[in-house]
Amino acid sequence: MGPTSTLRHEHEIILLVLNGIERGAGSLRATLLDDPDWLDTIVDFVRNFADRCHHGKEERHLFPRLEERGIPGAGGPIGVMLQEHEQGRAFIRSVAGAAPEARAGDTEAMDIASEALLAYVSLLRSHIAKENDVLFMMAERVLTPEDQTELGAAFDRVEADEMGEGTHERYHELAHQLGEH
Ligand SMILES: [Fe+2]
Ligand SMILES: [Fe+2]
Repeated sequence: MGPTSTLRHEHEIILLVLNGIERGAGSLRATLLDDPDWLDTIVDFVRNFADRCHHGKEERHLFPRLEERGIPGAGGPIGVMLQEHEQGRAFIRSVAGAAPEARAGDTEAMDIASEALLAYVSLLRSHIAKENDVLFMMAERVLTPEDQTELGAAFDRVEADEMGEGTHERYHELAHQLGEH
């Protein structure tokens, strides 16, 4: 599987979880009554799978290689993608900050968490659409076969070093649980 196919596949998994987040955040009080750990599970998935694993591959490997191949960084499409990753991290920080009080039943904290989650869902959906339909199309035109091989190997290293054996599979499983509820 080429590097953009790997990332497109991860997008599908993230989109599945975004559907679950949207449903759960829409009635957060009921969601937390049913599963008091729900916010912690979401923060864990987003920080580890979406951010460390997936955005790590993009930020540390794909984007720098695309810049070498002439796609503009700052002020161009890659700069926008990086900014959106940062916005997403900020939303998730709000969720994590509000989680303990939300779990304890504080209405204000629930509102903060649910607003930040819904903002995250809409940010990430449009972010993923831009990557799939614009940036990755450009990438598929400019990356050489050697780039593809090297990026594939770099992605495998991210999996091994950052995530550890079996972690990716565990998050796939979790994504299906979160998405299907
Ligand atoms: Fe991204
Ligand atoms: Fe992505």
